[in-house]
Amino acid sequence: MIAPSLLSADFSDLRREFSWLNQSSADWLHLDVMDGVFVPNISFGFPVLKHVARLSDKPLDVHLMIVQPEKFVREVKDLGAHVMNVHFEACTHLHRVVYMIREAGMLAGVTLNPATPVSVLRDIICDVDLVLLMSVNPGFGGQKFIPHTLTKVAELRDLINQSGSKALIEVDGGVNLETGAQLRKAGADVLVAGNYIFGASDPLEACRLLSAL
Ligand code: DX5
Ligand code: ZN
Repeated sequence: MIAPSLLSADFSDLRREFSWLNQSSADWLHLDVMDGVFVPNISFGFPVLKHVARLSDKPLDVHLMIVQPEKFVREVKDLGAHVMNVHFEACTHLHRVVYMIREAGMLAGVTLNPATPVSVLRDIICDVDLVLLMSVNPGFGGQKFIPHTLTKVAELRDLINQSGSKALIEVDGGVNLETGAQLRKAGADVLVAGNYIFGASDPLEACRLLSAL
């Protein structure tokens, strides 16, 4: 599956962006919420996303790069989101947050920063629907892929297989045709891509190529 990240879109012309996105091979639309505290950048919040969500025919994959994400389960649900991703590093009571998300009827995703090992998920892997591995330090689009992520994907694939978990593996940051192919080979299920898709001269074709990996 692929999930274009709207962070790299032209926000002055969202209707045009959605006219191709909705016809594309994209499976989900990835939405990056940043608070300027958990990450050194601010993106967009729920009053903006409320309008953006209405333009999308694709299921929404919301990635919260914010402190205390448990405060916003209702807001994410009200967007009609399919997946709600919270950072492991932002949740003191991760198990509780995961169940709040599931009880709200969404897939619960747990995100790991590049320096957080996969092993921290051992005791929660059977309770989560998705693990999002960051392959860049979160906060900005267009950064370079951290190659060690490939080892983490393989480790996570082993953990999932050994535990009987059904969690999907999603990867976010610096994904292009080259790193995307490596990630697929390592066992990734969902590829997020911002700059590679929105920066392409033909974004529809970029989606198609990434989907075909
Ligand atoms: C980074 C965000 C990403 C970002 C990816 O903090 O979580 O979703 O949009 O952008 P690219 O694909 O350009 O690295
Ligand atoms: Zn993201």
